[in-house]
Amino acid sequence: MEVATINRAWRRTRRPQGQPTRGKTAANRLRRVDNFLLLYDAPLIRRNNGPYVGAFFVDLGYGAEPFTTLESAARLRRTNPQLRVLGVEIDPVRVAAGQPYSDPVTCFRLGGFNLPLVAAQNERARAVRAFNVLRQYDEGEVAAAYAELAHHVLPGGLLIEGTSDPRGRIWVANVLRRQATATWAAEVLVFSTNFRLPSDPAVFQPVLPKNYIHRMAIGEPIHTLMEMWKAAAQQTLPERSWGERRWFVAAAHALYASGARIDLRRRWLGRGYLVVGVPFFAMAERNVPTSR
Ligand SMILES: C[S@@+](CC[C@H](N)C(=O)[O-])C[C@H]1O[C@@H](n2cnc3c(N)ncnc32)[C@H](O)[C@@H]1O
Repeated sequence: MEVATINRAWRRTRRPQGQPTRGKTAANRLRRVDNFLLLYDAPLIRRNNGPYVGAFFVDLGYGAEPFTTLESAARLRRTNPQLRVLGVEIDPVRVAAGQPYSDPVTCFRLGGFNLPLVAAQNERARAVRAFNVLRQYDEGEVAAAYAELAHHVLPGGLLIEGTSDPRGRIWVANVLRRQATATWAAEVLVFSTNFRLPSDPAVFQPVLPKNYIHRMAIGEPIHTLMEMWKAAAQQTLPERSWGERRWFVAAAHALYASGARIDLRRRWLGRGYLVVGVPFFAMAERNVPTSR
């Protein structure tokens, strides 16, 4: 079906849920988010059978220019050349900016949290990335947005929702798994750095996702986590003389030793990803492997 026809049909029946926000984006801003996703769950991106035949990777709220959608399409198709990629924008001008770049497996549609997928064609999403979108909403709107998105994602699919700095050097994201019951189970909170900024935990505070940014108060788990990480970073400060990466890794180990559920595998820490289990402090799983 033609893009314009889909957009028209969808607009008649369903108003996009959400509101247009600032459209600032940048080339390569979300490169490390794609890389994380491929390390975290490549089989989800690769799968082309059963309900996953034709299932989309969705870039929700791609912004004023379609950079991030096109870059993800190229990057993720190295793993799955048939992957269909859908850029969704609530602002029609931004949809128009993306559409010239459409091809048979890449499309740009007008939509909101109620994703513009065509039910008659059994379209579903395998993963949704929403970056720098919810940050501009009220905290109270996050749960409803998540709940709506769950209806459009296949069981076992992922939502990665977070906030980055303008160039994507640092970001923090929630990773949630779609359950059989159209709900989400939070799996991890990820802190990402390309080591161009100090590995000081404080640099991540301004890019905490919406559900955490206003929760930096005594008694809140995110506050406890950040305070413990700052203490771990202080304790391991001498490692910094070997570089930001070395300090990041050492602080992560110290944070784990103090009781946080950090995945200590080198595949994460060596690449600048601090992967924290949710909840942050359940102590049952201390047998996390230390290398790979
Ligand atoms: C700051 S830009 C982020 C662009 C890109 N994701 C990035 O990180 O560089 C946020 C975009 O999200 C769009 N947006 C906000 N709410 C939305 C919604 N409910 N559905 C789709 N797009 C939305 C806005 O129109 C805006 O263009």
